[in-house]
Amino acid sequence: MSGAISYVWRDPITDEEMVDLVRSHGGNAVPGWWSKVMEHSLGWVGARDGEGVLVGFVNVAWDGVDHAFLIDTKTRGTYQRRGIGTALVRRAVVHARAAGCEWLHVDFDPDLRGFYFDACGFRPTDAGLVHLPSVGEGRR
Ligand SMILES: CC(C)(COP(=O)(O)OP(=O)(O)OC[C@H]1O[C@@H](n2cnc3c(N)ncnc32)[C@H](O)[C@@H]1OP(=O)(O)O)[C@@H](O)C(=O)NCCC(=O)NCCS
Repeated sequence: MSGAISYVWRDPITDEEMVDLVRSHGGNAVPGWWSKVMEHSLGWVGARDGEGVLVGFVNVAWDGVDHAFLIDTKTRGTYQRRGIGTALVRRAVVHARAAGCEWLHVDFDPDLRGFYFDACGFRPTDAGLVHLPSVGEGRR
């Protein structure tokens, strides 16, 4: 680990860097995923250490108008619990607001309530979910 962490909106992140970052926290990396996704994004924040290594990422999807959606927040395994995730989300909030969005949504597993509600400032809301593979054709 070295140097201060820098945060850049629309940081040019390569697919290889994304695969490395996902693997670093034990995630299931899919080569080619980031190259396909980035063109559809409102923007994203990349965090890099003093040597330029990608140590954090969050993506902001949107509806093209006023709703933005935070997705795929990640901090490199060896850099977690140092405030990087919170700093990534704070910057995503600033940039989504600057793009004219009114609302920023996120969903997550219950163990991350402390991160999103307490550290990042989201508040609980009603939301809905369908597990698509469980829904047969024609069923309601
Ligand atoms: C979730 C994640 C992005 C948090 O990143 P981070 O850089 O470690 O977060 P921060 O250091 O800003 O954490 C701030 C606070 O949030 C809470 N928090 C962070 N990670 C947490 C975790 N895994 N479980 C429970 N609470 C957590 C803690 O209260 C923490 O403060 P503390 O370290 O003083 O206790 C990181 O754990 C990660 O990359 N996880 C794997 C990918 C993932 O699950 N992403 C979420 C997709 S919804």
